[in-house]
Amino acid sequence: MSRKPILAGNWKMNLDYKAGMSLVQDLGSALVDKDHDPSRAEAVVIPPFTGIRTVQVLVEGDKLPIAWGAQDISAHDDGAYTGEVSGEMLKALNCSYVVVGHSERREYHNETDEVVNAKAKKVIEYGMTPIVCCGEPLEVRKAGKHVEHTVAQITADLAGIDAADVAKLVIAYEPIWAIGTGETATADDAQEVCGALRKAVGDLYDGPTAEAVRIQYGGSVKPGNVVEIMGKPDVDGALVGGASLKAGDFASIVTFYQK
Ligand code: 13P
Repeated sequence: MSRKPILAGNWKMNLDYKAGMSLVQDLGSALVDKDHDPSRAEAVVIPPFTGIRTVQVLVEGDKLPIAWGAQDISAHDDGAYTGEVSGEMLKALNCSYVVVGHSERREYHNETDEVVNAKAKKVIEYGMTPIVCCGEPLEVRKAGKHVEHTVAQITADLAGIDAADVAKLVIAYEPIWAIGTGETATADDAQEVCGALRKAVGDLYDGPTAEAVRIQYGGSVKPGNVVEIMGKPDVDGALVGGASLKAGDFASIVTFYQK
């Protein structure tokens, strides 16, 4: 498979910059101890905004095999938007990735697909890669409408983005009922939706774009379940919350390919 697996740790609103510094140092050591081969899988950390600069300095200074990114971006370029952080600011910190459309932002900050789409375009405009999240709540899953729901989200979130950019971006399927609950979708559940999302990208764009786009699963991913989930053909990575806050656990997740 030509798609390189991408294992990203979304720290959410955890770890101040000092704690983030320790975690990245420990993660770097753990990856060395495990003989991590960066050509086999990509490790990404996504700290809160206040931790990004520290992560950048550490990773660049020690040449650690870790990329970094941000959890959000402003849909505006600059100006009177109190509390927001722009694409230019994130690019200046050498962020590679920016998460857009996480279910927590959709729920607590009323982000619609329209906003997610605008943010994804900003990430691309500033030369970074969006990780575009989608996922269904429990009632949609119970009604059996999860594929329809997530395909509609991604269709709206990618509107107006051209094929060459879609081929390079990352989609994350995170069923809301599996986030932070300890309840993991089965590997087959993950494959069902990731496969449907890839097919949707093929329908919206073309075959080569669908083959190239990387699709992650997220929701209670841990060292104990990552190997099975990553064994599925349309799952190209994981977006990890809780388990990414422990260096040893996240290093095991990144090196899943050794099992
Ligand atoms: P957990 O791994 O804690 O379930 O979080 C998943 C997630 O929301 C990552 O973005």
